[in-house]
Amino acid sequence: MKKLQILALLGAIAMPSRALFSEDQSANPPPAAPESPEQRDARMAWWREARFGMFVHWGLYSALAGNWDGKPQGANGNMEWMQNRVGVDTKTYSDAALPKFQPVPGFAKAWAKLAKQAGCQYVVFTTKHHEGFALHDSKFSDFDAGDKLNRDLVKEITEALRAEGIRVGFYHSVIDWHHPDYDFNKAKGLPYPAEAAKLATEPRDHTRYIDFLHNQIEELTKNYGQIDILWWDFSSQEFQGDDAWRSTDLIKKVRSNQPGIIMNNRLFRIPEAGFTGPGTGDVVNRLDPQYGDFVTPEQHIPPTGLPGVDWETCMTLNTTWGYNEHDTSWKSSSEIIRNLIDIASKGGNYLLNIGPKGDGTIPEETVTRLIEVGKWMEVNGRAIYGTTATLLTQLPWGRCTTKKHKDGTTLYLHVFDWPKEGELLVPGLQNKVQSARLLANGKKLEFKKTAAGVEIELPEKAPDPNATVIKLEIIGAPKVAAPNPAA
Ligand code: GLC
Repeated sequence: MKKLQILALLGAIAMPSRALFSEDQSANPPPAAPESPEQRDARMAWWREARFGMFVHWGLYSALAGNWDGKPQGANGNMEWMQNRVGVDTKTYSDAALPKFQPVPGFAKAWAKLAKQAGCQYVVFTTKHHEGFALHDSKFSDFDAGDKLNRDLVKEITEALRAEGIRVGFYHSVIDWHHPDYDFNKAKGLPYPAEAAKLATEPRDHTRYIDFLHNQIEELTKNYGQIDILWWDFSSQEFQGDDAWRSTDLIKKVRSNQPGIIMNNRLFRIPEAGFTGPGTGDVVNRLDPQYGDFVTPEQHIPPTGLPGVDWETCMTLNTTWGYNEHDTSWKSSSEIIRNLIDIASKGGNYLLNIGPKGDGTIPEETVTRLIEVGKWMEVNGRAIYGTTATLLTQLPWGRCTTKKHKDGTTLYLHVFDWPKEGELLVPGLQNKVQSARLLANGKKLEFKKTAAGVEIELPEKAPDPNATVIKLEIIGAPKVAAPNPAA
């Protein structure tokens, strides 16, 4: 180690101007040249094709499993907000949670395997949630996995994901209930543990918190190889952007460390950034690229998509992001599959959340559902990945996704409600049809053009009760007649 340092020093002395110049540059990177729309498309390409990602909420709250002081804190709601819910300071909170937060060896490999099995192309996991506990080994805090567990959990997770060929995304909370300088007084719209706020009588210097935030982000974007996504969370209308987090500078730093990275818009909360209103679901379909790359409808699917904007719906599997052993309101695998199809048909991505337990293991109800989704994706993934939104939005029996190719367009018809008469009408479709097949086994289906559109003859029973996909090859770009109001 020492020898290397001496050699490096000698190198710097031999070429002083170059070494110093490059150091200067990294300390203060020149403003990035604005990206052309083509460059942006190239950077966004994999994300737009991926369509399906996994969200992971995991931190000290996971170890509490929805309980405080031995008492369940309800069956529904965001249990990653436990500290806020019970209104305690970090010491009380972490004294209760830390002894139970004991990740088993190899937990991350199980996450990565499950993500892969489910068909997720990327995983976004919480490097730090609002509680402030950093999962990496941070030089700037002792409230982190390095100090408390002698482990670097970000490294373990990142390496496990890469080993499965899965893209890596970091969720990072800019809200911090632990840092002594995080000035909760500046934002009524951002949460803070109530009792702890009363206890905090010392004046706070929020600029010191911002420095800390930037430093931890510098560690996260420099020390873990290629990071594909940064998922910020979150700003309020009265405290956001440069005032709250020195956001422009933060984005610039991240981009200089990770030129290909894709970021959401939650460092801001203004209409130009596609995020407005008091609710986390408040999104609008505009986004100036200086504020981020995509918008994040939370827990809902925009009814007609968000044309012209990249978007990703994030959603829980039951009602909580962080693990709650009392929450049994699980979505069925069929509902999850249909949500994914619905989102893809509207041109968005689906970021589906799991909440592992304090030991890093994944609840059984989650595993069984994701395996079911994976089985469907194994057969029908082609009808999701790389597809785009469709003109055929008013389908009474299901949804449609499309893929352009040089000879025409593939329409994937996802049938949710199997027609009783065995005839499926694609209403208003005008194009010449080349072929219709069941995607699962390639079986040819008869079809005919009628005044109403294209009619396809189906087997009597739905081969897949979750959603059966029919692959329709048409010539040219889809042309759809306006629905006949008299029909
Ligand atoms: C909200 C919640 C947070 C969760 C996030 C996911 O902002 O505060 O707990 O992590 O949504 O989108």
